[in-house]
Amino acid sequence: MSHTLKAVRGTRDLLPPETALWNRIEATARSVFARYNFGEIRTPIFEDTGLFARGVGEETDIVSKEMYTWEDRGRFDKVSLSRSWLTDARSKHPGWVRNTHLPQEKSDADAVYQNSDGGFTLVCFVENATAVACQSLATAIDEYRNRQNCTAYNVRGLLVHPADIGSEGIPVEIQIHRDIAVYPVPGNFFASRQSLTLRPENTAGVVRSYIENKLGETGQLQKLYYIGPQFRRERPQKGRYRQFSQIGAEVIGPPSAGSESPLRDAEVLEMLATLLDELGIAGWTLHLNSVGSAADRERYNQALRAALAPVAGQLCADCQRRAVTNPLRVLDCKVPEDQPIIDALPVIADSLDGESKNHFAAVTAALDAAGVPYTRNHRLVRGLDYYTRTTFEFTHGGLGAQNALLGGGRYDGLSEMLGGPRAPGIGFAIGEDRLILTLLAQESAVQQVLADAYIAPLGESVNAAALALARQLRREGLKIELGDGSFRLKKSFEAADKAARQIVILGEDELQSGILTVKDFATGIQTKVPRSELTAFLLNA
Ligand code: HAM
Repeated sequence: MSHTLKAVRGTRDLLPPETALWNRIEATARSVFARYNFGEIRTPIFEDTGLFARGVGEETDIVSKEMYTWEDRGRFDKVSLSRSWLTDARSKHPGWVRNTHLPQEKSDADAVYQNSDGGFTLVCFVENATAVACQSLATAIDEYRNRQNCTAYNVRGLLVHPADIGSEGIPVEIQIHRDIAVYPVPGNFFASRQSLTLRPENTAGVVRSYIENKLGETGQLQKLYYIGPQFRRERPQKGRYRQFSQIGAEVIGPPSAGSESPLRDAEVLEMLATLLDELGIAGWTLHLNSVGSAADRERYNQALRAALAPVAGQLCADCQRRAVTNPLRVLDCKVPEDQPIIDALPVIADSLDGESKNHFAAVTAALDAAGVPYTRNHRLVRGLDYYTRTTFEFTHGGLGAQNALLGGGRYDGLSEMLGGPRAPGIGFAIGEDRLILTLLAQESAVQQVLADAYIAPLGESVNAAALALARQLRREGLKIELGDGSFRLKKSFEAADKAARQIVILGEDELQSGILTVKDFATGIQTKVPRSELTAFLLNA
């Protein structure tokens, strides 16, 4: 019995009417971004794995355990497979492959060899030993027999193909048919094989694109936004999915364009406050911190290591590992028992140098002037390695455990880490799924927007005329639901009541007279309306 297929764990379908809310959020975001003069960037959904390993950081949870990564086989390299097979076949059967000079040009096989017994072997080098490959080899064998006037028994075929990735051992020939055998050869026969990853976030992709497209050479600040799916293999729960959507933006450019200025940080944060306000998200909190420069963090790491050494043994297993490999990550720990120890650790603010302190002070001064409220959160170091100086998160109490609506910060060294020019930047990503959860909790339910009218054809003979009427009304800007002439009138009324504000009855009489019957569901009033007045009547009801 076949089982029903379901959406993969951690993924889900978004359906109407909720999708209307997604569209509204995206439209509002696009309009706010436009007012701040941002343009849209669309980068690929998958990238070279190295981008995230280098950009986001090998030690982060995202890269070390949450990425969807696979080996892309690349282009099939027939020549290297044939060489490998020939070496192998010659060493195993010295007398068997005797003659490689037989005419091949008319054969569908890649090569023809004469065996020591006087027979012939037609060899095909294929990517996969499929039924289709077998069939074409069988045809080639038949043609060869006819052409060479051979007897049936002394022509055979061999399908040589790469063994499955990871399989080992000595290749053996497997007879799959009276005349045909397959021969899997272990090895890499795919040129430019590449490790690919579904993007777990979009900042690394945007910076890769900035470098690749030489956007820095414009000398301008690049103000780029994106909306799209990201993928992380996290344990699914409310507000945490394996495919989720982010609305994000990045401001990046050469230092001469002012990309390092604290004003950029404050402007991005002020834009976020405006966007959340316009979306109607009430009660957000902006948590703000500075993780300083690379040198500041090195100093802080040393201070943390020293402070962690005597207490690490009392922390969770993850923290014990992080205390050695990347002590900053200890601050991300959510294990309740660890919190008192972590709260007593030194704070990063004490390790910042003068420049980092001044930068942060200028960000907060600009936020104060603009009236954007924030709280300083010393533990906000963020779970990605590229951050420098300003880091931030907006949280919302209604979200429960996964309370970060969005996160972001400055990444002044990321471009260089990816082999690009110096290009300081700052950006953020909003978890769109979490934004929706917050709005749904606030708005109680998403309202379905009813159609202006439901056209009910009376009998299948008027179906075509009903489609023509629906087409005219829709072109005039009305939202129309079209019924079906096979429905009884009662069923049409029930369907119309759920989908539309009014029902328009279209029977043979109405077609003849050009006068339609319209019933308004809110008032219960039924009216005879001439076709020429129908649009205005339906709109004004
Ligand atoms: P992030 O903090 O990893 O930062 O993700 C940003 C937001 O995406 C989170 O605050 C959360 O709302 C949402 N999010 C993350 N994981 C999930 C998930 N599994 N399910 C649902 N929502 C999730 C970044 O991604 C950075 N690229 C942000 C950034 C941009 N920094 C600088 N520029």
